Amino acid sequence: MPDVSTGQAADLVVRGLTVSVDDKEILRGVDLTVPAGEVHALMGPNGSGKSTLAYTLSGHPKYTVTAGTATFGGEDLLALPADARARLGLFLCFQYPTAIPGVTTVNFMRAALRAQGKEMPAREFIRRLNEEMAALRIDESFRARYINDGFSGGEKKRAEILQMAMLRPRLSILDETDSGLDVDALRTVANGVTRLAGPDMSVLAITHYPRILEYLKPDQVHVLNHGRVILSGGPELASQIERDGYEPIIGPTAVAADGGRRSLTGVTAEAQA
Ligand SMILES: Nc1ncnc2c1ncn2[C@@H]1O[C@H](COP(=O)(O)OP(=O)(O)OP(=O)(O)O)[C@@H](O)[C@H]1O
Ligand SMILES: [Mg+2]
Repeated sequence: MPDVSTGQAADLVVRGLTVSVDDKEILRGVDLTVPAGEVHALMGPNGSGKSTLAYTLSGHPKYTVTAGTATFGGEDLLALPADARARLGLFLCFQYPTAIPGVTTVNFMRAALRAQGKEMPAREFIRRLNEEMAALRIDESFRARYINDGFSGGEKKRAEILQMAMLRPRLSILDETDSGLDVDALRTVANGVTRLAGPDMSVLAITHYPRILEYLKPDQVHVLNHGRVILSGGPELASQIERDGYEPIIGPTAVAADGGRRSLTGVTAEAQA
């Protein structure tokens, strides 16, 4: 069993990751590095494999790794079951959070902390939960509500960030946490993430929109297309995608010309290796 969370971010290094779901190959050799403490964004057309990458890294059993490697702080993630990856400090904010009728938010948070060996005295737990809920503008009544049960889309996303804030992971993968949030909620959620991002927590933010990136200020933006990272660049890449769409990047000639990777902005994915 690897060390439990040290409270410091660590490098995520993914090399040549090939993943199948139900015998269908979805990821076809993903190369991606998120250095400790950095914030990276992952963009890409619908169906390009972003959520598949997130689920694979978090250890969902449905995804079969057929080739490649993924390490976090030098630990071989792929050799670990999902719960061990969580204990190592990996956290995934789901694109579609699941309701657990019968389990209240407060009990869910306690169980999650206990499972990761981060239990704390009841009084401290309640104080921290109240603090984090206030920071995320989540009404107190949510403590006693069943987690995600009947929550609105935006409330579910906030509940995900609440888990992140309580668990203090070393790497957070946010899968479209910004989708469906109103402008105020987006700011609240983004502030919740930026408050924790830094030396203690790296972020991989999957998004379709540059808006959240104005708050998160990513060090790099990557574009996933058809199961591969085909382009990496600075934050301006997100604005360029919003302005021009994906076609200038993933047009058939551009993708075929050099095996699928190039840079419009001078920072290639290879450059991070
Ligand atoms: N069980 C499955 N059987 C067949 N194909 C699947 C299965 N699960 C996922 N896929 C396919 O894998 C591809 C990648 O899906 P994924 O959810 O990773 O995309 P995404 O980049 O997150 O898209 P979005 O932006 O819409 O969230 C899609 O074409 C999807 O239909
Ligand atoms: Mg997705």
